[in-house]
Amino acid sequence: MSGLDNGSEPTILVCYGSSEGQTATVARRMRTALENEGHRVTLVDAAAHPADLEVGSFDGVIVGASIHGGSHQRPVTEFVRTNVDVLNRAPSAFFSVSLTAARETPAQRAPARGYIEEFLETTGWDPDATLVVAGALKYSQYGRLKRLLMRFLAGRSSGDTDTSRDYEYTDWEDVESFAREFATLLEPPTGSTG
Ligand SMILES: Cc1cc2nc3c(=O)[nH]c(=O)nc-3n(C[C@H](O)[C@H](O)[C@H](O)COP(=O)(O)O)c2cc1C
Repeated sequence: MSGLDNGSEPTILVCYGSSEGQTATVARRMRTALENEGHRVTLVDAAAHPADLEVGSFDGVIVGASIHGGSHQRPVTEFVRTNVDVLNRAPSAFFSVSLTAARETPAQRAPARGYIEEFLETTGWDPDATLVVAGALKYSQYGRLKRLLMRFLAGRSSGDTDTSRDYEYTDWEDVESFAREFATLLEPPTGSTG
């Protein structure tokens, strides 16, 4: 872990997987929130990260993925499995984006937390913080079959079936405060002098 050793601001890696772009937007929003607090952030797509990315060189790592057919993106699972030892040593956090998280009642939303628990169990990762994020229905990005499927599912849940528009359920304040809260894990303990 490098940034704190030489007295400079902490460095944070934000690595995400995203199929229709919402998780990428969440990751970018976290980057902005962290940069506004003076942190240095590297943002990478798990499906296309540089081969020489040194996860252990960051002071903290945030990983995010979205749910499709009940699972998070495979490249994110692989990224976490490959780097699990570093992630378990460093301050780390995981967020999971889904439509289950946008459901109306706590009982309906409960499986969204189950997705996180399953992911952590299969990867062996024990992050310091986790966040369930309500995603988006992006009819404009779906092909014909996917649009029909998502409209059908929406008809049985949110009722947001107008395929001429997109629907976004993400709580951006929650996203930003999660990132800021994570950053406090990286700060030197109060009373330590430089
Ligand atoms: C084909 C498809 C399958 C999905 N499956 C699930 C699912 O099983 N559970 C769920 O909660 N959300 C599901 N979603 C909703 C996505 O998690 C949600 O749209 C999220 O915002 C996608 O994020 P992304 O744009 O970063 O990929 C699905 C979406 C699509 C398009």
